[in-house]
Amino acid sequence: GAMADQERRFRDSVGDLAAGPTEPRRTAHRPPAGPRFTNTTDSDPALPETRAWAADAVATTPPALTSRMLGSAAEVDDVVATGRDAQPVWAARPGRERAAVLRRAADELEARRGALVTVMAAEGGKTVAEADPEVSEAIDFARYYADRAEELDGRGLLTDGAVFTPPVLTLVTPPWNFPVAIPTGGVLAALAAGSAVVIKPAHPVPGCTETAMAALHAAGVPGDVLQVVRTDEREVGRALVSHEGVDTVILTGAAETAEMFASWRTGRPGGPRVLGETSGKNSLVITPAADYDLAVADLVRSAFGHAGQKCSAASLVILVGSAGRSERLHRQLVDAVTSLRVGWPTDLGTTMGPVIEPPTGKLHRAQTTLDAGESWLVEPRSLDDTGRLWSPGLKDGVAAGSFFHQTECFGPVLGIMRVETLAEAVELQNATAYGLTGGLHSLDETEIEYWLDHVEVGNAYVNRHITGAIVQRQPFGGWKASAMGPGAKAGGPNYVAELGTWAPDGVPT
Ligand code: SER
Repeated sequence: GAMADQERRFRDSVGDLAAGPTEPRRTAHRPPAGPRFTNTTDSDPALPETRAWAADAVATTPPALTSRMLGSAAEVDDVVATGRDAQPVWAARPGRERAAVLRRAADELEARRGALVTVMAAEGGKTVAEADPEVSEAIDFARYYADRAEELDGRGLLTDGAVFTPPVLTLVTPPWNFPVAIPTGGVLAALAAGSAVVIKPAHPVPGCTETAMAALHAAGVPGDVLQVVRTDEREVGRALVSHEGVDTVILTGAAETAEMFASWRTGRPGGPRVLGETSGKNSLVITPAADYDLAVADLVRSAFGHAGQKCSAASLVILVGSAGRSERLHRQLVDAVTSLRVGWPTDLGTTMGPVIEPPTGKLHRAQTTLDAGESWLVEPRSLDDTGRLWSPGLKDGVAAGSFFHQTECFGPVLGIMRVETLAEAVELQNATAYGLTGGLHSLDETEIEYWLDHVEVGNAYVNRHITGAIVQRQPFGGWKASAMGPGAKAGGPNYVAELGTWAPDGVPT
């Protein structure tokens, strides 16, 4: 309508205030890096306190759940009304006060590091070495979004009269694979903006999210400003997502979930605003100009970290020219894959943990089926009767356009493709519906520049693993079918500002 147009024209004219149009879809990340943050992604599980958490994890059962269980749509109305009633007081607090609460939340999260690590191991099967940096990421989000809350205060009073209106109520629906950092990041961003929040933890990992939200409550976020709910009923979930009292939804999950959410919202033009980060089919290109030792280490980490269950994971490697014929690279890769030690997180020696549930569907197909031209270099095997421990798979001869080239399977299987030129490699990389992460290993500047100019992914990593984005240094988000909504990146400068709406002073929003 007219108001939307006015807002759009205003956004165009104020550019950086209105965030969206100024943020590039693709950001490039190359070492060495900028400011130092706690999330080094190089956590050392040999640290004594980490050893102690791992020992705890042996004994830990998931905590008793305290979040509110919703059984009916009427209860959804109640939760929404509670959040909306509470929001004006929270929004009226100056940004520096909200920022102070968020900084206390960082400290409260730090104080619960051991508990968070153990519950991630117990509920989600995350190894200690992966869970520990995830706590750091949540802490980084708290401090970073605290700064944004203060900044927003300043912007709201700017001389040119731009007014930021936060969402009244934000719904956060996080995934199970990062059950601390992603939910906490979404919630903190919304709180920084001045929104009330309802969070619905992912099914298999509610205790992780509850433990993190307890830290936020302990830091001073009121219980009605931040409500944690669960439900076993799809209809109740649907009522929540499509509720007219929900202004903004922060969704991280499979593309299928995003589509389901979108279909639930049909018939409701105008709202809510959805910020979504979904699936990926991510690949890493290795050229003959790469340092093969580094490339293989980064590739194996990208493909098999958290058993490949990351939206950012590499499930394809594209070998260019003589890299595809190199005996040394081949041997290094097979050695690195077969020396992963698969086990439960309770064993500190584990380098690859379990999958979240016995594989079905796409992952099961990827682990048990070869398509035309494919062969196993390392064939996956089920290792015990839980069905959750699988040895890693390495599949050669993946063809352009095949199932494995284009389908996100979300598990510990890596496929190899071979081409003659870097141009062909980028074409294969771009020839999927998604565009989340991608990598290049090459020490040749011309190749690097060419690749950065052509690859269609939100996060383009050069000579680095392609998982484990770092708050502020590597804002995280997708392109193409990997993203929904305006496009600001989590952990980046515009994310908080994009949760709400901007308008010239005097124009009602
Ligand atoms: N932020 C995670 C990563 O970068 C994915 O959600 O791996």
